[in-house]
Amino acid sequence: MPKTLLVTGSSGLIGSEVCVYFARELGYAVHGVDNNQRAVFFGPSGDTRWNQQRLQSDLPGFQHHELDIRNRAGVLELVKTLKPAVIVHTAAQPSHDRAAAIPFDDFDTNAVGTLNLLEAARQACPESPFVHMSTNKVYGDAPNGIALVELATRWDYADPAYAYGIPETFTIDQSKHSLFGASKVAADVMVQEYGRYFNLPSCCLRGGCLTGPNHSGVELHGFLSYLVKCNLEGREYKVFGYKGKQVRDNIHSLDVARFMAAFVGAPRAGEVYNLGGGKANSTSIIEAFKLTEKITGKPQVHSYQEQNRIGDHICYYSDLRKMRAHYPAWDLTQSLEDTLRQIVAAWRQKLGN
Ligand SMILES: NC(=O)c1ccc[n+]([C@@H]2O[C@H](COP(=O)([O-])OP(=O)(O)OC[C@H]3O[C@@H](n4cnc5c(N)ncnc54)[C@H](O)[C@@H]3O)[C@@H](O)[C@H]2O)c1
Repeated sequence: MPKTLLVTGSSGLIGSEVCVYFARELGYAVHGVDNNQRAVFFGPSGDTRWNQQRLQSDLPGFQHHELDIRNRAGVLELVKTLKPAVIVHTAAQPSHDRAAAIPFDDFDTNAVGTLNLLEAARQACPESPFVHMSTNKVYGDAPNGIALVELATRWDYADPAYAYGIPETFTIDQSKHSLFGASKVAADVMVQEYGRYFNLPSCCLRGGCLTGPNHSGVELHGFLSYLVKCNLEGREYKVFGYKGKQVRDNIHSLDVARFMAAFVGAPRAGEVYNLGGGKANSTSIIEAFKLTEKITGKPQVHSYQEQNRIGDHICYYSDLRKMRAHYPAWDLTQSLEDTLRQIVAAWRQKLGN
């Protein structure tokens, strides 16, 4: 009998990659939970049904469950019935900026939905690894307090303590998080607590920018995906503050799925990892324009507003040393340019241009 994997947010960028990777590479029987809430959060351009249909047609045996993770009774019942060998939790309201307009939906999904899943796991399958997608926004805007140096096309850390990026020991306290960051802190700490208090094999992956060809990128979420879409459509990309030199690190969803598989192979309890592309896969917005223009041959139409996004990181890249130390067989396999090329190819196919 194949082992069973339960993935929440299975129609999203990370969830769908995990479904494919665990089914094809590791032989898992995969169950996905998703109710296309992304289309409710972001409107029709956030619709993820196409990805759900892709999984249903490409993965033999994939089972979709149209369930809202806020439905506590439904979550408890599903996990009790399946008793999955692994749970990967990626369903979320993922946008920093969107959360302020929908605080109840944001907290109920991100914090309470995670608690529903943790408690369901503790009751039904306490031995099964539980992987939670957290975010670097748990650090709030505290990284903006690090001394920076302004280079020609990007900001970088001036303090040599951060030469490798932000480590997991960085403070999550006493900074501005956005309501999204705060609801994700609640979930992150709860996942750690189920690890420490109940010994549930669990980890929080504090993602930088997670990306790849299967993102339904929208203005408020999905940096590179949305940037490429704007480039191909000749649509204006709005830059908010910091001269467009703000830096994000980008990791391909395949490398995220590969790390999750490494963790599942040798799980720990209540761990925390900063999961990103690291310095090598970091880019500023204006550097990303240049690279995209090089790949597509089209100019990036953009505008600039002095006012930055509230709580936006001026420079953030993840220190990957803890991930590499705990799981030495894992490393990044997709460079920033490879990833961008794949995103361009995927949008060209979807947009027919
Ligand atoms: N993409 C990034 O750059 C990034 C960065 C850091 C952290 N993360 C985290 O990684 C996780 C996955 O992100 P993603 O980019 O794949 O997001 P995504 O929006 O592409 O996927 C999330 C999926 O969850 C579903 N969903 C949302 N609310 C739901 C609910 N209440 N019930 C059932 N399904 C629901 C959505 O319909 C969507 O298909 C999230 O926890 C996010 O906060 C993402």
